[in-house]
Amino acid sequence: MKAHVAKYPADRSRSALIPLLFVVQRERGGWLDNPGVNFLAKFLDLEVTDVWETATFYSMFNLRPIGRHHIQICKTLSCKIMGEPDITDHICSKLGIKPGETTDDGKFTVTMVECLGSCGTAPMMQIGFDYYEDLTLEKVDKILSDCK
Ligand code: FES
Repeated sequence: MKAHVAKYPADRSRSALIPLLFVVQRERGGWLDNPGVNFLAKFLDLEVTDVWETATFYSMFNLRPIGRHHIQICKTLSCKIMGEPDITDHICSKLGIKPGETTDDGKFTVTMVECLGSCGTAPMMQIGFDYYEDLTLEKVDKILSDCK
């Protein structure tokens, strides 16, 4: 965490807030909870509300527990036109959940998200930090079966 703060001028340590939110999220099991946010606020000498304001603004920060594999399906125009609804239905049907839910075994969470900046390879989704593009139902089956 200190390495992130060191990237910024001494009087601008709050600039490390977003990278440190990723660190805290990872260390807290994939989501931001009160102890993690409180720790970060104290570490950066910020108000807890400052940290929550940022955490709640960005969709890449999870505010509740998520599955080990966080599937984020792009629902924006290019992906929608290129088959996102079928992809989403297929994934949710296979996992037995709806968007926004987590499987009972805690393995998968499906979230619908806005454009992930990969419109030229629509439809696409993100699992963790990895992009999966030009999706077909067959590709989705392979991707899900490869998730341990
Ligand atoms: S519309 Fe899906 S990545 Fe942009």
